[in-house]
Amino acid sequence: SSLPAPYNEHVDTHEPGSPARARLAEALATLSKEVAEIPVVAGPAELRTGSILEVTMPHRRRHVIARAHEAGAKETQAAIDAALAVAPAWAETPFEERAAIFLRAADLLSGPWRARISAACMLGQSKTAHQSEIDAVAEMADFFRWNVHFYAELQKHQPVSPKGMWNRLEMRPLEGFVFAVTPFNFLAIAANLPCAPILGGNVCVWKPATSSLLGCWHVLEMLREAGLPDGVLTLVPGHGPTQSEVALASPHLAAIHFTGSTGTFKHLWKGVAANLDRYRTFPRLVGETGGKDFIVAHPSADPIAVATAISRGGYEYQGQKCSAASRIYVPRSLWPTVRDRVVSDLASMKMGDVADFSNFVGAVIDDRAFARIRGYQELARQSATILAGGGASDAEGWFVQPTLVQVEDPKHRLMSEEIFGPVVTCFVYDDAKWSDTLELVDGTSPYALTGAVFARDSIALAEADVALRNAAGNFYVNDKPTGAVVGQQPFGGARASGTNDKAGSMFNLVRWISPRTVKETF
Ligand code: ALA
Repeated sequence: SSLPAPYNEHVDTHEPGSPARARLAEALATLSKEVAEIPVVAGPAELRTGSILEVTMPHRRRHVIARAHEAGAKETQAAIDAALAVAPAWAETPFEERAAIFLRAADLLSGPWRARISAACMLGQSKTAHQSEIDAVAEMADFFRWNVHFYAELQKHQPVSPKGMWNRLEMRPLEGFVFAVTPFNFLAIAANLPCAPILGGNVCVWKPATSSLLGCWHVLEMLREAGLPDGVLTLVPGHGPTQSEVALASPHLAAIHFTGSTGTFKHLWKGVAANLDRYRTFPRLVGETGGKDFIVAHPSADPIAVATAISRGGYEYQGQKCSAASRIYVPRSLWPTVRDRVVSDLASMKMGDVADFSNFVGAVIDDRAFARIRGYQELARQSATILAGGGASDAEGWFVQPTLVQVEDPKHRLMSEEIFGPVVTCFVYDDAKWSDTLELVDGTSPYALTGAVFARDSIALAEADVALRNAAGNFYVNDKPTGAVVGQQPFGGARASGTNDKAGSMFNLVRWISPRTVKETF
């Protein structure tokens, strides 16, 4: 076919004085002065309900950057109806035409929309320029381009046809609509959850996390400019319960594509069970949920590499990645070097307004996150040792100091519960207890998303490989457990971390297809 080969988008470094930096600074200044008004989008109709959700900057918590109209039950139903109305035409649109829209969107994102989308993500979600660049620009463009490639590959998967017949698989979309419930922490994921099914010919109702609405709104505008027809992607701003209740009660719910907390995913799953008799078809449930991601170092590991993995994997984007390094196992012989290096890294991490390019740490997303993380800092104060950080201030924004904690008990709550913030907990083990430590890593938390092992001894690596086979869906050897790249490390985990349908791969795309087998004889 004439499809271009997929590739990974280049990551701008925004060097001082560079044109990329100037464009981003200008976009930040412009968006800071605006208050975007975000409607419910139901086909060509934009509905203004007057029930307003204010979106603020996490690092300047009184500064409103967007006002969104919350979708009530009526508007959510209107969005579903608008999506269903265009579903047959979209399903009949040739794959090449659907693909062209997303390839155009990727080009818009890497070109004229780059600075604007990145700035919206920085201001709305308190990401630094680098974190925003790798998420809202590079990863989103990668999803668009690689999904096209994988979907085209998938279509080649055809049955054999003995003489006298022609057997084929028609890659139909699901019948109904996909409900995409998307998280605040990655704009790329927020875009991919509706867009992966849409590429396959499905229509979507999109319910983004309220704190990501500014970025999501710009993504929707960009997709329209790329040629996405009205109704294929509808938008229902809101806190969740109202929009979910209506979507889950619809006989036409075909699937849920979710990223967020384990608790919310279970709630949606139970909602589907409660409505099961209403549906025309069994809805597919695809979810990527929490993590309590580990780094385990063997005595043969390079302690500086371990420390760097903790500093970057644990604290980038304030630890608000489902993949963030959060529980660390270090042998006693390496501990002084690892600890001192992480403590010195933390001392040099500047925290503050993300529009100041020298800051490495922004604010956590909102008041609820701030209170939850403060609670864990308090728990650490009472029952563990705080080696660095421990403070927080909500005077200007939701700022939490990067915090390093050491526990004596490897089963401490700080080693098993997801904190989703810049708090990393370490357990120091006796060098002789490598196998016991691997058992602890596997058995301490209900999650199994990402994890990393550090060793130079190849036998130790082989032991970890086997002992931790089911402890992580993304397993890193001598590298930090964050930063999966589309096309390179398909992403997802099992156990309490989700259905492991590997975002950015064929494993994800097959979930949006309901093939029809056709046998024709002649
Ligand atoms: N895909 C994101 C990462 O790997 C969550 O960090």
